[in-house]
Amino acid sequence: MNEFIPLLILESHVFLRNLLIILLILIIFALLCYILFNSIAKKLKVKRVTFYENSSERDNFKFIFISDLHINCLPVDRRKIVSEIAAESPDFIVFTGDFAHSDEEKYKKESLDFFASLIDAAACPIYITYGNHDIRDFFSSDRLKRDAFTRALTDISPRIRVLENTYEIFRKNGSSIVIGGLNDITENESGGKDLCAKWKNIADSENARFMTISHNPDILLTLGEDFADFFLAGHTHAGQIRLPFHAEFKILRMHDKLPCRGIYYGKTVFNNVPIYITSGLGCSILPIRFGTYPEIVLIETGMK
Ligand SMILES: [Fe+2]
Repeated sequence: MNEFIPLLILESHVFLRNLLIILLILIIFALLCYILFNSIAKKLKVKRVTFYENSSERDNFKFIFISDLHINCLPVDRRKIVSEIAAESPDFIVFTGDFAHSDEEKYKKESLDFFASLIDAAACPIYITYGNHDIRDFFSSDRLKRDAFTRALTDISPRIRVLENTYEIFRKNGSSIVIGGLNDITENESGGKDLCAKWKNIADSENARFMTISHNPDILLTLGEDFADFFLAGHTHAGQIRLPFHAEFKILRMHDKLPCRGIYYGKTVFNNVPIYITSGLGCSILPIRFGTYPEIVLIETGMK
């Protein structure tokens, strides 16, 4: 019996050594993946999209669409975002929410600083809707905190407009575009359809283009057909870590209905309405991306 004891000790020693080697390989692999995926999350792209483009540039509205800043998990250089946007000299900017997924005060200040530098550099109106993380995390579901932040934004400049189930009209060269901002679907499960019908009538009476913006594209499931000339949303991060067969949504984000059907990024048509869903700027949980880049979207749309 005693002669087996050294053999057992030797075998358990070999097992432990192999286990440590496997663990080390896994840690190095995870670290390399993190470095690679983090570098992807830093690579800002400028995407160009057109809706109803007219032949002459003078006949187009040219604006920037951004979403999902997630300033507490934003690997992209903020100054680069601002300079890339300003370089395009947009008529206006649209931001469809998710300033941060944290209620820490420092991220409110950082968000306000970011939008102050953006309006300084771009010198144009900014239209904003809030996202699910703004409502739940950034404002801790507290209406007073939300109103205080809205006031702080408009204190930077009256050209920053927060659209909470309301609209604004932007005018250029005698033409206009109606921008209808719908609250996130978490507080807008019905009613969006009636608002869009009302805003569309206003746009028709002005002979204006009409776009609807909202944080989560799932709101499309409540709006019916032909509710606007076009629609913009974010929220999906285009999967952030892309897996085959939209598995990142089917496994981890089953509540996101359209993404589970494969509608989570880019330009397409839904219920007769052209739409664009952006991959956004920042990240959730970890500052990493795979199979998708952070982006700012330059949109051109013909005047009516
Ligand atoms: Fe987001």
